[in-house]
Amino acid sequence: MKILVTGGAGFIGSAVVRRAIADGHQVVNLDALTYAACLDNVADVAGDPAYVFEHADIRNRAALDGIFSRHRPDAVMHLAAESHVDRSIDGPGAFIETNVNGTYNMLEAARTYWQARGKPAAFRFHHISTDEVYGSLGADGLFTEDTPYAPNSPYSASKAASDHLVRAWHETYGLPVVITNCSNNYGPYHFPEKLVPVVILRALSDLPIPIYGTGDNIRDWLYVEDHADALLTVLQGGRNGRSYNIGGENEVTNLGLVQKLCAILDSKRPAKHSYADLVTFVADRPGHDLRYAIDPTRIRMELGWRPSVTLDQGLEKTVQWYLDNEHWWRALQSRAGVGERLGKQQTAPQMRGVSVG
Ligand SMILES: NC(=O)c1ccc[n+]([C@@H]2O[C@H](COP(=O)([O-])OP(=O)(O)OC[C@H]3O[C@@H](n4cnc5c(N)ncnc54)[C@H](O)[C@@H]3O)[C@@H](O)[C@H]2O)c1
Repeated sequence: MKILVTGGAGFIGSAVVRRAIADGHQVVNLDALTYAACLDNVADVAGDPAYVFEHADIRNRAALDGIFSRHRPDAVMHLAAESHVDRSIDGPGAFIETNVNGTYNMLEAARTYWQARGKPAAFRFHHISTDEVYGSLGADGLFTEDTPYAPNSPYSASKAASDHLVRAWHETYGLPVVITNCSNNYGPYHFPEKLVPVVILRALSDLPIPIYGTGDNIRDWLYVEDHADALLTVLQGGRNGRSYNIGGENEVTNLGLVQKLCAILDSKRPAKHSYADLVTFVADRPGHDLRYAIDPTRIRMELGWRPSVTLDQGLEKTVQWYLDNEHWWRALQSRAGVGERLGKQQTAPQMRGVSVG
């Protein structure tokens, strides 16, 4: 299958590109190369004849039309987005432009192309979204595909809006679509402004590891390579017009996650003190959702998919990857905003912080 992947130079998109090529698919990687992109993420496949890169912006409809007509894809996996909640608090406009208007452009370019080809039933527009569209859970309960949308941040609101557009293009125009909503990802090539790499890299630099609030927010962590596998499973087997939640079956508090990372580092790179001694609690993020947790029944029952690694196994692989790939993360640390506390909406002196989806 020839797949047009948007955002394929980002964290999850690059895992999808690497996995799709390994599975024998052809890939057109469309990416605007924003601050969050890194072409090194796809260096392993860049020379493969099945891989093509298109430097383009999903806000540019004419560019999208050209890419569809040049490459004639069988499917689209749409991951390009502004993805950082803290940045959405400081500057929501970019999230509306890319996540909402950009998705609208992708849908219209895909619809035009699909209609011109005689509306092939096998075509798929796969929209990759987040569990954050459902808002926050209390201590109990799980997000199912029927949970009402209640986004709380500009980021999650923009993703919710894009999900609604995809659904409407299916209902109104018959465009064949699938939507996936996943929990927090972690793993290799995670941009160093997000929680897991920030914790690892600050620990290695013997710097305080800041945790928002009391650290009792709960997330359901999904190893990125498992996510890429799930996405390709849904693309090929998911029912037209349906949503699938993808979770890691790995609920843990932010503090618990940080403590696990510190323990792995203590064993792999022992220091004079435990890395957990570096943990520092800082002011919470505004509108910080308490708990996200996925009910994965649909993807498991319909498509037989389950994550392949436990949280402990995935974190161990991730820490080892960061220890082995210092050249990769060092090159990204000088990018604007990386290592700064963003999204606080206060004028108090800046404290470097960690961001959690
Ligand atoms: N990271 C997570 O834990 C997580 C969880 C749930 C859902 N998601 C969703 O998965 C998708 C990928 O997330 P990620 O963490 O890999 O993001 P990322 O920020 O690492 O990568 C996003 C990519 O999109 C590209 N991009 C941004 N704006 C663009 C534009 N206007 N035109 C073309 N390309 C553009 C960037 O250059 C970058 O390569 C996003 O849609 C995100 O909402 C992520």
